This record gives sequence, C-alpha cells and structure tokens, in this order.
Amino acid sequence: MAQNRVYIENLSQYIGQEITLNGWLYNKRSSGKIRFLLLRDGTGIVQCVMAKGHIPDDVFAKFDQLTQESAFSISGKVKKDERSPGGHEIDLTDVQVISVAHEYPITPKEHGVEFLADRRHLWLRSSRQHAIMRVRHRIIKAIRDFFDGRGFTLIDAPILTPNAVEGTTTLFDTEYFDLGKAFLTQSGQLYGEAGAMAFGKIYCFGPTFRAEKSKTRRHLTEFWMVEPEMAFYDLNDDMDLAEEFLEHIVQTVLKDCEPELKVLERNTAMLQNVKRPLPRISYDEAVEILHKKGLQFEWGGDLGAPDETAISEQFDRPVMVHRYPAKVKAFYMKRDPKNAELALAVDVLAPEGYGEIIGGSQREDDLDKLLERIKEHNLPQAAFEWYLDLRRYGSVPHAGFGLGVERTVAWICGLDHVRETIPFPRMIYRLTP
Ligand code: 4AD
Ligand code: MG
Repeated sequence: MAQNRVYIENLSQYIGQEITLNGWLYNKRSSGKIRFLLLRDGTGIVQCVMAKGHIPDDVFAKFDQLTQESAFSISGKVKKDERSPGGHEIDLTDVQVISVAHEYPITPKEHGVEFLADRRHLWLRSSRQHAIMRVRHRIIKAIRDFFDGRGFTLIDAPILTPNAVEGTTTLFDTEYFDLGKAFLTQSGQLYGEAGAMAFGKIYCFGPTFRAEKSKTRRHLTEFWMVEPEMAFYDLNDDMDLAEEFLEHIVQTVLKDCEPELKVLERNTAMLQNVKRPLPRISYDEAVEILHKKGLQFEWGGDLGAPDETAISEQFDRPVMVHRYPAKVKAFYMKRDPKNAELALAVDVLAPEGYGEIIGGSQREDDLDKLLERIKEHNLPQAAFEWYLDLRRYGSVPHAGFGLGVERTVAWICGLDHVRETIPFPRMIYRLTP
C-alpha cells in the first residue's frame, strides 16, 4: 500500500508506533549483545537497534548476513533519540533481507575523485552527494516557482538546432538525415525571443551543450540553463529581475536546506547577504578595480576567472558587471546608444571565487543592425531568417539572461568543482558512466 509507506524523513510523525522501512545498509556495528544497523532509504539514515535475547535468534542472526549496501526491510518501533543523527531510533522487531550486496567498492575511507567519478552510479548514494542533489532539486524548484509565480510561460526550446547561438567554436554537431548538419543547442535564447514576442514573458529551461575545450572547474560540456526572456524590458529591467531571482533562489535554499548545508559544512555567512540591491558596476569600473589591485589587464578583453575573482572580492554579495566591449560578446546583443563599442550586456559574478553564474543582455531589435552583426560574425544568414522575422514583425526592446544551474549549485553548496553538481557529469575527458 504505497500511500501508507513510511520514509525516514517523516519519522517524527510515527513516534511510539510500529512501522516498516525499506532501504539499504549504510553501516553497522555491534557492542556486546547489541547490534546497530544504519538503514538508508534515500530520504535519510536511521539507526536500528536489537539486543540478543529480546528478539528471535533467527532475526538477530540477519545482522551477520547484511553487508554494506545490502537491501533489506525492517519492522520496529520509532523512538525519539536526540543523540541519533536524524533524531530517531528504531527498536527492531523484524528484519527481512531482500538482496545481499557484493563487496561494495566505496568504503568510508578516502577515495580519489577519479575512482569515485568512475563509480558515479554508486557514489550518488553517499551522504555528501545526496545532500548536493537535494540542494540541486530545491534550486530547480525555486527557479520554476519564481517564474511560474510571476506570470512567465514555460516555452521549451529545441535541443537539435540548425545554427549556433554562442559562437561557432563550441558546437557539437551530428548528421541530420538529408538536411545536413544539426547542432546541439548552446542556449534556447533565440527561441525564447520568439516566445517573448508571442507570450510577453517566457522562460526556457533545459540542457545545453558546449564543446568546451577548457578543462576547468567551471565547465561542463552538458549543463542546465534557465533562460527568461521579456518583451519591453531594457538592460536595467533585466538586472532588476536577475537580482530578485538570485535573492529568491538563495534565500529559499537557506530556509529549506539547512540539514543539507550542514552535511556539506557550508559556511552560510556570505549566502545570507544575497539580498537586493546587488551592486552594479560597469566593465570600465571593473577594469579600474583590476588596475587598482595591480593586475595586468588590457581594456577590451574578456574577464578571465582570476579577474572575476579579484573583482568579486571587493563585494559581500554577487556583483553585476554591465556594458562589456561588444567584440567579446555575442552577435545578438544591442549596442549601448551612448557608446557603440559597448554591448548592453550583464554578467553576474558570484562571490567566493565562483565567477560568472548569469550572462544576459538587451537584444538588438533593429533589423538592419542585426543583419550587419550576422555578417560581421560570418553567420549563415539563411539559418537566421526566422530570427530576423522577429525584427520584421512588431520588433520591440527586449532582454533576458541565462543562469547556469551547475555553477549555481557549486556556489551555494561551496564545492570546488562543478562535476559534483549534476548526477552524471559530461566533460571533455568524461562520458561515463
Ligand atoms: O553566458 P552564456 O554563454 O549566455 C548564454 O548562453 C545566453 N544565451 C543566455 C541568455 O541571455 N539567455 O551562459 C549563461 C550561463 C553562464 O553564466 C554560466 O552560468 C552557464 O550558463 N554556463 C556554463 N555552465 C557550465 N559549463 C559551461 N560550459 C557553461 N557555459 C555557460
Ligand atoms: Mg557568459
């Protein structure tokens, strides 16, 4: 009876009651005539106790059969126990072995990260990974709630596409029947713009792909991005939305994921600061900060990871850097009417060295200028005709941004690499499991 199933995270509703739990053996130990089984059920871990003489001998003997990660069910009475990890303990009355596990490769001792990554399908059971995936889940739900609660329509963008969005150097391609090459999407944005003209405010949320040659702790080849796009928004409106969005995500996780952040030993002091308004500085001001800190940086270049870290160190919360040189940014960005060298772009840099988590801009809404950009970037105009139509039929100022889920999870959880933020990471040197 599925509706009566009990899970460890809900044990406080069953104090004093006899219940049944299903799960796997996390660990076990014995002390004299007492046996302790640590049962893991995916929602938590609970200590189950039995004493020789107080329980049938055949049940007591099951302790010896159970190896790490063996599957089993227990019946017993729920007790409150402040000293136990989850605050409860089970007095066993029965144990049913479901399947005895072979010798489990991941033991409580330290393993190298490559060893663990090769066993990602098992590593996910560890308490640290469990905590990270629960935070990821909460972040994704917070993202959806944020947009759903503000009148945005979800518009799913296609994954197989005929053209590049974010430059042609990071495209994955595949043969597509008689139609030539198809590319895995780098961003749903262009479709999002069509959606914004149809629905006013939209977001797309899905996997995106970059054939990134960079072997850094911030880059995956497959990552999840949420991209809102809004008609009648300028760059300032875009930044207003981005800061409200980040505040919502971080404050929600702080409120709902205290146990997980504790498992991760995350110092949350900096996260508590993520409240509006976020500081806004121009690219010019960012360059000034770098020069004041004595860093070599030539105006006109893109900010590298060390530059981003140096800039964000000046602030106690994420910082928005706007108006980058147009030549380091994408073709679709609108130029600053006050200085045509600059794009109306914004990057949000997370504190504590996590770097860019959001990239966005106001879009070029003038047909002729957009055509010029497509030519400058050597993009095939034919593939963009549908996109140009959005400027032919009722073009309006509009803007949007993209937030990378994995970088956000890494930052909020305080991880030093994005590989632990997604269930099965894809990187240049990893396609398995
Ligand atoms: O700055 P990016 O490339 O922006 C876009 O794709 C725009 N089309 C978004 C938009 O305006 N709708 O990427 C946005 C975010 C980055 O800030 C970063 O968080 C994440 O996506 N990202 C990556 N995350 C992991 N691995 C990678 N290789 C990433 N590339 C970008
Ligand atoms: Mg970017």
